[in-house]
Amino acid sequence: MSRDVIIACDFPNAEQTLTFLDKFTEEKPFVKIGMELFYAEGPEIVRQIKARGHRIFLDLKLHDIPNTVKKAMAVLSRLDVDICNLHAAGGLDMMRAAAEGLTRPDGTRPLLIAVTQLTSIDQKRMEEELLISRPLEDVVMQYAVNAKAAGLDGVVCSPLEAGKVHQTCGEDFLTVTPGIRFAESESGDQQRITTPAQARELGSDYIVVGRPITAAGDPVAAYRRCLADFCGQTA
Ligand code: C5P
Repeated sequence: MSRDVIIACDFPNAEQTLTFLDKFTEEKPFVKIGMELFYAEGPEIVRQIKARGHRIFLDLKLHDIPNTVKKAMAVLSRLDVDICNLHAAGGLDMMRAAAEGLTRPDGTRPLLIAVTQLTSIDQKRMEEELLISRPLEDVVMQYAVNAKAAGLDGVVCSPLEAGKVHQTCGEDFLTVTPGIRFAESESGDQQRITTPAQARELGSDYIVVGRPITAAGDPVAAYRRCLADFCGQTA
């Protein structure tokens, strides 16, 4: 699996997103569209970004009863995205139904990955707010094992868990890892963070980077720094 950097385009509207993407004149970064942008602009923003030649991770983190998720995924399958996701906390049946719904009539489907625990959740919050008393790493591994059993392609997790997920679920099982910060950046609301270089050492397949790129004075330079540190390549 070749590594890549995915930029989290957490912007409120199409105009700001496209203005941001216009800065990338030499490369076509892999783009993550999340709830904020999708709820504001709808499927049209996916089509617009795809038409510009970007690969897209549609990060809507579905979590509902299996039938509802299956039908929602069937709608998303008509958008030509590369990665979709859901919450592993929805259970095995929900994940199986999601994969079924996402499968197009020709048998193909986008990659489908499961959120294990959000990288904004740490052990203390998980215990005190969610009443889950097991070690966070055990919870992440169990959710990863469930995702694999349901036929999914990988998980969203912290880079700190990527190596163990690969050990448990296989090298081909994708680890897509947010919670990335440059050594000198603010952590913001993220709790389980690493640098791009640490994420590479820990075995992440994709890093998802938002504010360290989108809020940088020079976003293209910040993106290239991520690529160089994570993939060992210069753009
Ligand atoms: O700005 P920042 O680099 O923290 O952005 C991280 C992105 O990854 C956000 O879009 C957030 O929704 C997403 N994400 C996350 N943790 C997860 C799953 C997705 O931070 N477990």
